[in-house]
Amino acid sequence: MDREWYDRNYPNYEHMRKSAKADPNRLRFHLMPPAGWMNDPNGLCQFQGLYHIYFQYTPFLAGWGTKLWGHYTTDDWIHFQEEEPFLFPDCEWDQDGVYSGSALVHDGEIHYFYTGNVKLTDRTYDYVMKGREQNTIHVKSRDGFHPEEKHLVLTHTDYPADMSKHVRDPKVFYREGSYYMLLGARDEQARGCALLFSSPDLNQWTYFDRIVPKKPFGYMWECPDFFELEGQGFLTVCPQGVLAEEYHYQNVYQCGYFPAKLDLANHCCQLQEFRELDRGFDFYAAQSFEDARGRRILIGWMGMPDADYDNDVTVKQGWIHAMAMPRELRVRNGRLIQAPLEEMKSLRKIEWCGSIREFGIRKTEDCCFEMRVDLMEYGASMALWLREDVCLSYEGQILSLSLGKSGHGRGRRSIRLANLQNCTIFSDTSSLEIFINDGEEVITTRVYSEALSQSMWFEGTGLAGTVVFYELGGFEVRWKEQPYPGEFRE
Ligand code: FRU
Repeated sequence: MDREWYDRNYPNYEHMRKSAKADPNRLRFHLMPPAGWMNDPNGLCQFQGLYHIYFQYTPFLAGWGTKLWGHYTTDDWIHFQEEEPFLFPDCEWDQDGVYSGSALVHDGEIHYFYTGNVKLTDRTYDYVMKGREQNTIHVKSRDGFHPEEKHLVLTHTDYPADMSKHVRDPKVFYREGSYYMLLGARDEQARGCALLFSSPDLNQWTYFDRIVPKKPFGYMWECPDFFELEGQGFLTVCPQGVLAEEYHYQNVYQCGYFPAKLDLANHCCQLQEFRELDRGFDFYAAQSFEDARGRRILIGWMGMPDADYDNDVTVKQGWIHAMAMPRELRVRNGRLIQAPLEEMKSLRKIEWCGSIREFGIRKTEDCCFEMRVDLMEYGASMALWLREDVCLSYEGQILSLSLGKSGHGRGRRSIRLANLQNCTIFSDTSSLEIFINDGEEVITTRVYSEALSQSMWFEGTGLAGTVVFYELGGFEVRWKEQPYPGEFRE
């Protein structure tokens, strides 16, 4: 693959990168594809001080295409480096996409496990029970930049016989002297579950058990993850096919967690009630890892597969989707709570604080701000306009985020909330992340205002509380000098 090859096959690529970077909707403090498409975060880890964020990536197309693993690194979550894509679909086991997976640091090396996607095209298939392979592949690296040889560790003959062809997204963790791998799956009866495999050495894997909810919950589970935090277990997962309820499961697919008691000795995993990690329009395929400071950091894809709202505004500029801000997880009353990573504070620039009454109408030139509101009276109703047609309101114990035209099909999301005590809003050019009651709930959405110069104001009178408002700066990203993926590969 040399420059001429790229010019012949992707004549628009340089133009796509330029046009993406010039887009006013380009986010300032979120990771995006340099051009093309981004979805799930993959292989999150910290190795020798450096954080690695790999991701599902289609560099040449702002739409669904064959996936590679793109790659960013950072040591402070503010300065990022675009790296050479890490994994390419270059063998028979992953010829139609290097799908999602995870990383585990062990003995001075990083071990990656991912799904190799293979789509058969010799006949007509349903692609559920027949017509695809989802292989589990292991690859190591001594530095996080250069992968070694790929090894096939599991195929459909190793998965339980009653599984469909949808088995993917390995997440590996260590517990009680063994390694375990979770895989998201759909069984032949269209029930979502997670499969658990175990290994003494990360090379040989044997089937251990399956994790199922008390009652069937969706037809497929994607991107499972298990971790313990403050002495409690949590299984995060993305179920597909869960029916919408008035205040729950409003998106086409869900992203959330079950508090989970994993009892390996007795092959038993008890799942409690499922909770959504995010209540907005654009949050999916979250993955977490523990960093050297012992923080459990979660990153989600700020997107939603198969949603009916559009992102055409950026597609026209040659790119689509982004990562949500990294969040630190904690536990409160048996539930996960989420806070933006502390490092985000260093983006703060001009500060304003005062009472809600004094807030008036605040203007920003680029929509990039952080705003914390603390209410004096918890049951009080509130309406806070965040842009000309975007309003966060609280009335009769229902918190709603409503978007007008700038939502591009995203209308309203509502949550039942006994008390609104505080909220922290992070607004970027074309996204909003709203942390409610110190991270008890989060609402994440993309939004595309026609002009970035916007105003915020509270509606009504008599609402008592305080506001701290910061204009925010952006990430600094160093782009690769040779932008063509794989240009120097043999
Ligand atoms: C989740 C997902 C994964 C899959 C990947 C493919 O968004 O569908 O299940 O591995 O994306 O890009």
